[in-house]
Amino acid sequence: MSPAMPAPSPALYLQQARDSPNSKECMSIYDKWAATYNDEVGDEAQEYVAPVLVAQAAIKYAKTNGPANSVILDAGCGTGLVGQALSIARPKAIDGIDLSVPMLEIARDTGVYRNLDQADMNRPIAKPDETYDTVVCVGTFTLGHVGPDPALRELVRVTKTNGIVVATILDEIWVSGGFKDEVAKLKAEGVVGVTEELIDYVKGHGDKAVLVILEKLPRA
Ligand SMILES: C[S@@+](CC[C@H](N)C(=O)[O-])C[C@H]1O[C@@H](n2cnc3c(N)ncnc32)[C@H](O)[C@@H]1O
Repeated sequence: MSPAMPAPSPALYLQQARDSPNSKECMSIYDKWAATYNDEVGDEAQEYVAPVLVAQAAIKYAKTNGPANSVILDAGCGTGLVGQALSIARPKAIDGIDLSVPMLEIARDTGVYRNLDQADMNRPIAKPDETYDTVVCVGTFTLGHVGPDPALRELVRVTKTNGIVVATILDEIWVSGGFKDEVAKLKAEGVVGVTEELIDYVKGHGDKAVLVILEKLPRA
C-alpha cells in the first residue's frame, strides 16, 4: 500500500493558488484549503496581518454612514477573517462574496455575515449599483486570483456615492498586473478619489501590499 500523501503546507497552497491559470483552478485550491486556512495563515510563520489592517482602515475612513450604520461588502471574503475584524465596529450589515463555497461555509460559521454568495469577481458582480457604504477586498487582488478589470470598476459601482472601496493589491503586481493603470483610469474619469499606501501583508514572508482607498465621487 502506498503511504498517504501529506497535505500541502500553507505556503504550498498559497503558491499553487498564485500559480492558478484560471478561476476554476484557483477555486479548487481554496476548496481544499478552506478547513485549515484560518489556522495556517494566522500562524507565526505566515503572520497574515492584512485583514486586521484593512478592517481598521475601513472603520477609520468610513464616509457615508459612520461605522455603526454602515452596510459593508467583503469581496473575496474567504473564511471571514475581515468580516470578523470589521464586526467590532458593529456595522449594520456585512455581506460577503467569494468563488469558493467551502470558504463561504466557514465564513457562515462566524455568524457575522448577513448574506454570503458565490461570485466570480473576474465577471460582473450580481449586485445593484450604489448598495454599500464600504467595500473591502483583502488578499484577492493577487497573482492567479482576480485581475483589475472589471473587478475594480465593479466594486466602485456597487459602492454608494461618497462611500469607499478599501482593497489590498499585492505589491508585486500593482504595476505589472495593470492595477495602477486601472486606478489611474478611474481617477482620470472623475469616478473616484484615490489614496494609496504600502502596508505589511503576509508579514512572515515579507510580502507587502498596496492599500488602496477609492472614494466614490458624485457624478459631475
Ligand atoms: C487569500 S484568500 C483571502 C480571503 C480573505 N479576504 C482573507 O483575507 O482571509 C483569497 C480569496 O479569494 C477568493 N477568490 C479567488 N479567485 C476569486 C474570484 N475569481 N472571485 C471571487 N473570489 C475569488 C478565494 O476563494 C479566497 O477565498
